Amino acid sequence: MKKKLIAGNWKMNGSFAANEALVNGLLTNLGTPACEMALCVPSIYLAQMQALLVGSEIDLGAQDVSQHEGGAFTGEISGAMLKEFGVRYVLVGHSERRQYHFETDALVAAKAQRALACGVTPIVCVGETLTEREAGMTEEVVKRQLAAVIHANGHCISEIVVAYEPVWAIGTGKTASAEQAQQVHAVLRAQLKAASAQADRIHILYGGSMNAANAAQLLAQADIDGGLVGGASLKAPDFLSIIASAL
Ligand code: 13P
Repeated sequence: MKKKLIAGNWKMNGSFAANEALVNGLLTNLGTPACEMALCVPSIYLAQMQALLVGSEIDLGAQDVSQHEGGAFTGEISGAMLKEFGVRYVLVGHSERRQYHFETDALVAAKAQRALACGVTPIVCVGETLTEREAGMTEEVVKRQLAAVIHANGHCISEIVVAYEPVWAIGTGKTASAEQAQQVHAVLRAQLKAASAQADRIHILYGGSMNAANAAQLLAQADIDGGLVGGASLKAPDFLSIIASAL
């Protein structure tokens, strides 16, 4: 059975001093966790984090990647650059990028494709808004978002990680119940299975107000293979407690 994956998404948080304190707090008290771990940090701190995490069991992740290979794209960061900094994972299609940066399904799929081409594992985020859930459109939305990535990536699809993050649960303290989350994860798993014979190896993470109190129940669900943790990943004791519940 594959190990679970617990990934922190720091979003736009951090400073040299805070990053060092947080990583020290994690590494000092990590013990021997049963799961795989990653921290997706602001790109400007990748060099610092690469040095802080070297030799540890925590993998380095970024929060975005350009869909382009290189060239005249001011402000963008390429997959090859991420790879050079030892980045193993990159978030693509986080709802905050879909919402505030108008990222479309096609763009997210192209970013996933570029990450894979550079040997960086894309963590493809999908999830419905509250309005979409209330309109009974949850399945339709997440399937459409994932279908774009499947279509663009063909047989490489077994190399991705998927994160189901209901938008209404992000940063709101409202978590999807374990049953609600499992229901959507099962839909995503079936969609991945239809696309790849190796779909069982794909991690499907849950994200959205995951914390020390609710992690164990969510992670006990059959198709929840880990977590994508925002706020609670910024506090070492909380993140360690989530890691400890990922058995
Ligand atoms: P919170 O855990 O803060 O709700 O954020 C979830 C998230 O967006 C992780 O990518």
